[in-house]
Amino acid sequence: MKIAIYPGTFDPITNGHLDILERAVNLFDRVIITIARNSSKRPLFTEEERLELMREAVKAFPQVEVDAFDGLLVDYCRKKKAIAVVRGLRAISDFEYELQMALMNRKLNPHVQTVFLMPNERYTYLNSTIVREIARLGGDVTDFVPPVVKKALTKKVKSLKK
Ligand code: COA
Repeated sequence: MKIAIYPGTFDPITNGHLDILERAVNLFDRVIITIARNSSKRPLFTEEERLELMREAVKAFPQVEVDAFDGLLVDYCRKKKAIAVVRGLRAISDFEYELQMALMNRKLNPHVQTVFLMPNERYTYLNSTIVREIARLGGDVTDFVPPVVKKALTKKVKSLKK
């Protein structure tokens, strides 16, 4: 059983993340998409909201598990018996940060490989910050996120304006 971990903040999950996930599902028997709790980011959606959105968004993939973790990614990999970490590489700008993380993770746990996957070109400019910004300013996010996330963004923006 080849297990991979797909970690991130997922605030919220986008079509770009789902594109990477679909590619990972074709390579591994099981993929655990997981929220890193100790991220320095201040998320718009709570952990429970993000988990719920992820669960809805990945419904079509029976091989995918949704989770959240504390502490080091490499320790989480050990616990889950994962052989790989999946990360998306969208542009050269991602590379330096991703290389540093991959090399550090390999130093900490040489048994886990980082696998970089490239999303479809139409997602290379996408990230969660941009999606949140467009939603906050009343733009249309239909092409960037699954319908359940679009709905949640609209609701969240409304509640923040109150
Ligand atoms: N499509 C669209 N957007 C994508 C994407 C894709 N395919 N891949 C990444 N992104 C975006 C994310 O939405 C995010 O955007 P944002 O910054 O606007 O929110 C950004 O690219 C990168 O964030 P993300 O993929 O969520 O990763 P991260 O940098 O927030 O998290 C962790 C990095 C969680 C993997 C890392 O911090 C970690 O492993 N933490 C655990 C602690 C640990 O082990 N630390 C030591 C690491 S060496």
